[in-house]
Amino acid sequence: MRVMVWSTVLGASFAVPAFLLAAAADAEHGKVLFQACAACHSTRPDALGPDLKDVFGRKSAARDDFRYSNPMLRANLVWDEANLKAYIADPQAKVKGNRMPYGGLTNENDVDDVVAYLKVLK
Ligand code: HEC
Repeated sequence: MRVMVWSTVLGASFAVPAFLLAAAADAEHGKVLFQACAACHSTRPDALGPDLKDVFGRKSAARDDFRYSNPMLRANLVWDEANLKAYIADPQAKVKGNRMPYGGLTNENDVDDVVAYLKVLK
């Protein structure tokens, strides 16, 4: 009987962290982090980077109003979750030679949150 009770307690204590780990990425926090991206990614005509509205699910280098680098033009990606995460974490590893002057976000949770925000950026 004691063994059964003990395993129930253990089971419960394992259930909590598992639930917390499954917590959804935080688009609100992503929006805050995106301030750093927005320095270049804005709708201003003199913006350094392409507008990222509707980027989720779009093909890479798809905007007519931006002159992409050749590596980005050749990348031929769809900006789905996996590709966005990889690019934001390490732009040069994902699209070698592209000219986004940004080193990447090192914190995995931050990457998830930025992608969650990009999904709702319309
Ligand atoms: C200092 C300017 C700058 C910053 C900061 C920056 N970017 Fe970029 N970004 C660029 C440029 C320039 C390109 C185009 C690269 C090319 O054509 O090689 C680009 C391209 C991209 C693309 C591909 C867009 C497309 O239409 O294919 C994505 C996605 C992207 N950036 C996301 C981000 C995110 C998310 C952040 C913040 C975590 C960020 N960028 C920060 C300048 C920047």
